[in-house]
Amino acid sequence: MSHAGRPPSTTVVEDPARIAVIIGSTREGRAGAGIARWFLTHVSEREDVDLDVIDLRDLVLPMHYPEERTPGQHALAERIGRADGFVVVTPEYNHSYPASLKHAIDVVHEQWFAKPVGFVSYGGMAQGLRAVEHLRMVFAELHAVTVRDGVSVNLFDGSVDDNGWVLDSNGAGHAAKTMVNQLLWWAHALRDARAIRPYGA
Ligand SMILES: Cc1cc2nc3c(=O)[nH]c(=O)nc-3n(C[C@H](O)[C@H](O)[C@H](O)COP(=O)(O)O)c2cc1C
Repeated sequence: MSHAGRPPSTTVVEDPARIAVIIGSTREGRAGAGIARWFLTHVSEREDVDLDVIDLRDLVLPMHYPEERTPGQHALAERIGRADGFVVVTPEYNHSYPASLKHAIDVVHEQWFAKPVGFVSYGGMAQGLRAVEHLRMVFAELHAVTVRDGVSVNLFDGSVDDNGWVLDSNGAGHAAKTMVNQLLWWAHALRDARAIRPYGA
């Protein structure tokens, strides 16, 4: 059969998805910085990802809720609004996630809508999964879609080395790839959907 007349094969190159990685712990001496650094190696080299790292420790967010957003609140809302999807890096504090993270989530509103959220969690035996379960409810309230698979790390069973680096012995690297792939699917799908039809909350 002749191939004459068939258009040359093309590769569809999509705009990179804008993914914001949010470092949820602001604690001095936090393990979260190392966990986030490790996770970022799984996304920073990808050409299909345009990365923004939002370290909550760098933000200036007042603990009260002023009538008018402060410049710090504006800056955070703008970064959340620009993103197509999020990875939240969270520890487990008292069976849940840290107050710093909840505060940052709450000062932003519609910028979360119709976007996906993936999780990298860590802690003791429960590997931060109780924090993640609570965050899933919070993000549902904000019309966000949470990604099923995530990365969860036990800080105290040898899964993390002395430098705070996550070892691959429990398949953490594979889990990170799986979560990122799911997140990117949702990020593209929902970005396309939002472009066709504004989300009707
Ligand atoms: C206030 C506080 C409460 C904690 N509660 C829990 C908990 O409920 N479950 C758990 O697995 N680890 C708990 N931990 C241990 C943390 O998971 C561990 O200290 C981790 O390093 C905290 O993350 P960060 O160092 O990035 O702040 C708690 C730590 C703190 C500081």
